[in-house]
Amino acid sequence: MCWMGPVQHLWIVRVSCFSCMSKVFFGALAPTRMFCCLQIKPLGFLKPISLRKVPGRFQTHQNSLPRLPVPPLQQTLDHYLQILQPIVSEEEWNNTKQLVEEFRGSGGVGERLQKSLERRARKTENWLSEWWLKTAYLQYRQPVVIHSSPGLVLPKQDFVDSQGQLRETLPVEYLGGKPLCMNQYYQILSSCRIPGPKQDSVINFSKTTKPPMHITVVHNFQFFELDVYHSDGTPLTSDQIFIQLEKIWNSSLQTNKEPIGILTTNHRNTWAKAYTNLIKDKTNKASVRSIQKSIFTVCLDAPMPRVSDDIYKSRVAGQMLHGGGSKQNSGNRWFDKTLQFIVAEDGSCGLVYEHAAAEGPPIVALLDHIVEFSKKPELVRSPMIPLPMPKKLRFNISPEIKSDIEKAKQNLNIMVQDLDLTVLVFHHFGKNFPKSEKMSPDGFIQMALQLAYYRIYGHTCSTYESASLRMFHLGRTDTIRSNSIDSFRFVKAMDDSNSTEQMKVELLRKAVLTHRSYTDKAIRGEAIDRHLLGLKLQAIEDLVSIPEIFMDTSYAIAMHFNLSTSQVPAKTDCVMCFGPVVPDGYGVCYNPMAEHINFVVSAYNSCAETNAARLAHYLEKALLDMRTLLQEHPRAKL
Ligand code: COA
Repeated sequence: MCWMGPVQHLWIVRVSCFSCMSKVFFGALAPTRMFCCLQIKPLGFLKPISLRKVPGRFQTHQNSLPRLPVPPLQQTLDHYLQILQPIVSEEEWNNTKQLVEEFRGSGGVGERLQKSLERRARKTENWLSEWWLKTAYLQYRQPVVIHSSPGLVLPKQDFVDSQGQLRETLPVEYLGGKPLCMNQYYQILSSCRIPGPKQDSVINFSKTTKPPMHITVVHNFQFFELDVYHSDGTPLTSDQIFIQLEKIWNSSLQTNKEPIGILTTNHRNTWAKAYTNLIKDKTNKASVRSIQKSIFTVCLDAPMPRVSDDIYKSRVAGQMLHGGGSKQNSGNRWFDKTLQFIVAEDGSCGLVYEHAAAEGPPIVALLDHIVEFSKKPELVRSPMIPLPMPKKLRFNISPEIKSDIEKAKQNLNIMVQDLDLTVLVFHHFGKNFPKSEKMSPDGFIQMALQLAYYRIYGHTCSTYESASLRMFHLGRTDTIRSNSIDSFRFVKAMDDSNSTEQMKVELLRKAVLTHRSYTDKAIRGEAIDRHLLGLKLQAIEDLVSIPEIFMDTSYAIAMHFNLSTSQVPAKTDCVMCFGPVVPDGYGVCYNPMAEHINFVVSAYNSCAETNAARLAHYLEKALLDMRTLLQEHPRAKL
């Protein structure tokens, strides 16, 4: 399958650590030319296809994708009333029903907004994408750390010495079989979020006439510009990159006193002010620009403090999400950078990415590809030629900047302390078990989450699961409402002595089917959440007053996602993680493998009612109970 884009070029290096001979790899995707995946070859054999030779193929593919539809108004409103049933009181529901009836009436405000929305859909490439980018990301003012940027944990590497850290890692692209929108892939590299006073922006430098030729490397809070191309446009070999990384490593043995990168962890308005101040200085401006333009960042982290084996994985998840705080590796990041690969001296590795540009699947596809690639035969070693020392990026720290860094450190450390993370490797079974029961594995896992939550709290909650809209041109996500009337019936029955085991089995099967059918609706662009958001934003744009259904308690409850969940499947045995989206909620990300499932559960310590380890424990129990239920009550063979 071809991966085509306007200005992208992949190079991959696969090497072995000379000392331990373990298979490790380094890869990079540089935005200089485009290529076809099938032609990816070890470095030196790569034959990039010039964009000029295949003009417009990416665009042709993109244009062949359907446009995101605006779902029928009545369908969305009916479904909205349904999803409210298990989460609001009868009185609230009756009140909301009345508001919905007024809204949907012929010639009413709902109809007018729907027509405006349909007009918008005719005039734009995707009626939602720009609104979504702004609302969900660029106008969101909480720090990107924990609140927005997901981390990804890779299996630990056993380095025998510091060379391992320099030779280890990372990206590259993989494309699945479906004709999905590929736009996100072209937003990942050479791009960076830029703070603004009310709204941020994202700049993608790969589209410039002179695309970047360097990556950023950070070690001991010191930033370096590492050219990964020679002046003739040929990429550096793996050995050459290794030598360059070693030079960086050796010249930054002392930790920088001022972890400038910490500034990027701040509340966006605060960071925007500090940013304006920071780049008043010419040297600072040039250094910041170099980081922003670079293809991606490689963070060479110090080892984490030693912890017991049972909490090690959870600590690594924290390391990937936030860097562990100002005394650990948080200063070794530029959190606005879209893609940052993290390789620590102790072998923990993964990545963190800024979410505005893309969802998790394209990011893990990059990883899957390089992991696959690394299994291919060894490269021929290339001759060594002298290369200049990578440029150190310097910063002049005025007293004002120093004070901004101090404040950012304090805020970050509070956030880090507040985050409660648990990694659960559920090893009893993976997606093969639900498949063998002819059930959707995703639906099965979501029902286990519903059951776990219900068993802890005795009620159900608004649940968000990301659904991909990439079947549509410039599609991002919509929401699968995993809690439904059917899921509620199932979780209530599960511990109810009045329910027979056979009833429980039927209710579980029905709940999973309902979930799968809503998933199908969501990926076809017919879920309710983005449509309701669109109607609300349309009201704002049309300067009509916000309709009452959006000012209603039920709407607030529906949008308060105590469970914010996402499946990010990968072939690699890794798992993504993110923070909860509400103060009293959980974030749950999972990667269902064939025979086991990786989960990361997050919560906030400041909320007395939530506890990530407890939810993980109940989740494990729910999955096991559901398996037992199905195994002890097999379906009658027809
Ligand atoms: N019987 C047997 N097998 C079944 C089945 C059934 N009833 N239903 C599904 N399966 C199989 C599927 O064919 C699939 O097989 P595969 O492993 O060979 O591919 C597998 O089980 C998984 O299917 P399912 O669990 O139903 O989920 P999915 O792969 O369709 O994914 C979503 C569902 C919602 C995760 C996906 O549609 C999606 O939108 N992903 C993007 C999410 C996203 O963007 N996350 C990132 C946010 S940052």
